[in-house]
Amino acid sequence: MLNYKEYLRYNNFMKINDEIIVEVEKVTNLGAGIAKIDGFVVFIENACPQDLVKIKITKVNKNFANGKITEIITPSPHRIKPFCPLYNACGACQIQFINYDYQLKLKQQITEETIRTISGLNIKINDTIKSPETRNYRRKIQYPISQTKNSGRILAGYFKPKTHEIVNIKYCPIQPKICDDIIEFIRQKAFEYGIQGFNEKKHTGDLRHVVIRSSALTAKNLVVLVINATKSFERLNDFAKAIYDEFEDITGVCVNYNSKKTNVILSSKTECLYGCEYIEEKLIDKTFKIGANTFFQINPKSAENIFKYVKKYIKDNFIEPTVLDAYAGITSFGICVSDVCKKVVSVEENKESCEMARETAKANNISNIEIYNMDASKFFAKEKRKFDVIILDPPRKGCSQESLDEAFRLSKDTIVYVSCNPATLARDLKILSEKGCEVLSIQPFDMFCHTYHIENVAIIKKKEPTF
Ligand SMILES: C[S@@+](CC[C@H](N)C(=O)[O-])C[C@H]1O[C@@H](n2cnc3c(N)ncnc32)[C@H](O)[C@@H]1O
Repeated sequence: MLNYKEYLRYNNFMKINDEIIVEVEKVTNLGAGIAKIDGFVVFIENACPQDLVKIKITKVNKNFANGKITEIITPSPHRIKPFCPLYNACGACQIQFINYDYQLKLKQQITEETIRTISGLNIKINDTIKSPETRNYRRKIQYPISQTKNSGRILAGYFKPKTHEIVNIKYCPIQPKICDDIIEFIRQKAFEYGIQGFNEKKHTGDLRHVVIRSSALTAKNLVVLVINATKSFERLNDFAKAIYDEFEDITGVCVNYNSKKTNVILSSKTECLYGCEYIEEKLIDKTFKIGANTFFQINPKSAENIFKYVKKYIKDNFIEPTVLDAYAGITSFGICVSDVCKKVVSVEENKESCEMARETAKANNISNIEIYNMDASKFFAKEKRKFDVIILDPPRKGCSQESLDEAFRLSKDTIVYVSCNPATLARDLKILSEKGCEVLSIQPFDMFCHTYHIENVAIIKKKEPTF
C-alpha cells in the first residue's frame, strides 16, 4: 500500500483498481467528495471533507479520476450515523451521513465555489437558512412501481442510484408516516384487485407510479395512481375506491393516464375518481390549492421562509411596485407578495397550475393579478410594460439566453432570481452581469435536507435603472 507521494514517485499516472490513501478536501455541487493528488482531482462518492480514506480508482480520465471508498481510516469529525435504515440501499438522501449543521455550511461553500468558478463573480454568500423541519418534511412523494417476477408482489420505492432497480421502501423518515401507510396499503391490495405493477422493459402491467401530495397545513393527502392505460377500467375504479375508503386523511384519489414510452412521470391527463382533486397548503397568509400536476415546493415550511424573504425585500425597498412573477407555478410568489404591490403579472406554461392560481387568487380576494398561461420567453418578447421587480424561478436548467435578454429589457430596477441549481444560477448571473447588472446578495435556503440540492435567492440590480 502506497501513500500518494510514494505512489506518484513509482507511477506516472493512476490506473483503474489502484488503491490510494487520500484526505477529502471538499464537496462538489453534485455531492461528490474531492481529493487532490498533486493537483490531480479525484471524485469520491459518499465522502466528507476531512475524511482520511483508502479509495479504489474506478475510472481515470485525462483531467480527473473517480474513486470509491474501501476503508475510512480516520472519519471526518462531521460524519454521523445515518438515521435511515435504508440509507445505503436507497441513495435519495445522499449526504445523510453528514451532521446537519455541517450540511448547511457545505451548501453555502458549494454555492460560493460554484458561482466563483462558473461566473467569475466574487460574491459573499450568506449563511444557509435551515429548514424548520429536517425529517418528515418531504410532501411530494413519487414512487415508481413494479412487481416481483415469480410471486407478483408489488414493489414501491425509489430507484437504487444509477439503476432502475426499485428499493422497496416501507419506511421513509423524511416523509409523513401516512405516506408509508398509503403505499403499504397499495402494495397489499393491488394483487387483490388484479392491479399489476409496471414492467418497464416490456412496457406491460398497470401501475407505473404512485404520487402523493401531502399537506403540511391540513395533514390531508391526494393520491395519484399513474396508470399504463388511456382510460379507467372497473378493477382500477374499485381499487381507487378501496384506497379512498381506507384513509380518513385522503382528500381524493386521482388517476393519471400515461401509456407512453417515456421517463416523464405524469401525463397531462388526470381524472379524479374519488373525493376532490387537490389539497390545500398555506404560505404566509395565503391558502393555495395544489393538484396532481401542479408545481409546488416539496418542503412548504422551508419554502415559506423564501416567500417571506422575497416579500420583505420588496416591501422594504419599493412602494407599490409592479411585479412580474415568471416561471410562476401556481403564482406562489405573485400571490404572496400581491398585498405589497400595485400590480402582479404572472406567467407559467403549465395550464393546470394557471387554473389553480386563478382559483387561489379568487379565494383569497386578490384582484391585482393577471395570470398568463404561456411560455415565459414568448410572453417576455411580446410584453411592452416594464416592471419594478421581476421574479425568475426557472426549472433546474435555468433561463434561456433569450429570456434573460428580454427580462433585462423588461426590468426597471431589480431581478430576484430563485434557483434550485447553483451551476445554472452562476451561468445566468454571468450573463446578467455582462448586460449591466450587479448581484447584491445570494441567500441559500435548505429545502432538501440530507440531499446535495440547494435553493438560492439572488437579488440583482440594474446598474442603470430604466423607467
Ligand atoms: C421551479 S418551478 C417554480 C414555481 C413557483 N415559482 C413556485 O415557487 O412554486 C418552475 C416552474 O416553471 C414552469 N416552466 C418551466 N419552463 C417554463 C417556460 N418555458 N415558460 C413558463 N413556465 C415554465 C414549470 O412548469 C414550473 O411551474
